[in-house]
Amino acid sequence: MGTQAFKQAMRRVTGAVTVVTTRGIQGERRGVTATAVCSLSVAPPALIACVNRETWVGQLAPASRIFCVNVLARAQCAVAEAFAGRTGHVAEDRFAVGDWDEHESGTPALRDAIASFDCRLERSVDFASHVVLVGEVVRTTVGPAQAEPLLYFDGAFTTAVPPI
Ligand SMILES: Cc1cc2nc3c(=O)[nH]c(=O)nc-3n(C[C@H](O)[C@H](O)[C@H](O)COP(=O)(O)O)c2cc1C
Repeated sequence: MGTQAFKQAMRRVTGAVTVVTTRGIQGERRGVTATAVCSLSVAPPALIACVNRETWVGQLAPASRIFCVNVLARAQCAVAEAFAGRTGHVAEDRFAVGDWDEHESGTPALRDAIASFDCRLERSVDFASHVVLVGEVVRTTVGPAQAEPLLYFDGAFTTAVPPI
């Protein structure tokens, strides 16, 4: 199976856009735009996030053992661009884009995110280029009920139409 066909098919999978954040052991903030995030279990409340090991988050979260999944609203497209490395912002500078707070654990939390899941890293699993962060959710916040989600489909940012 060729990677081209896989990528082509994955482009047709609509993803909720998130920024996965963490802190390094010296307290430095880092984040990465990611759609490879999925609910894992309800009891305990757990989720997984798949990040490239070359990213700062992929490097730092397995050591600090904390991370947060911030689910973006349509209005936060600029945040997604910055944390995807498309604006020239690097490392801590990315947090100049968007309005950032922090959870009690210290993980960066995006104000007005649709939802935010603060996680304790339960385990990390290496697979090829990526690391699967398995997180036990310790705290959640939710944004305004009417918020429009930021989605990614066919290589472009989009949003959801009203319910059918
Ligand atoms: C919509 C979108 C979704 C992405 N999803 C992921 C993802 O799930 N996991 C991942 O490792 N990188 C993902 N990326 C790529 C990273 O955001 C990008 O490589 C980023 O620059 C890596 O951060 P770094 O500067 O820390 O290396 C995505 C990018 C975009 C635009």
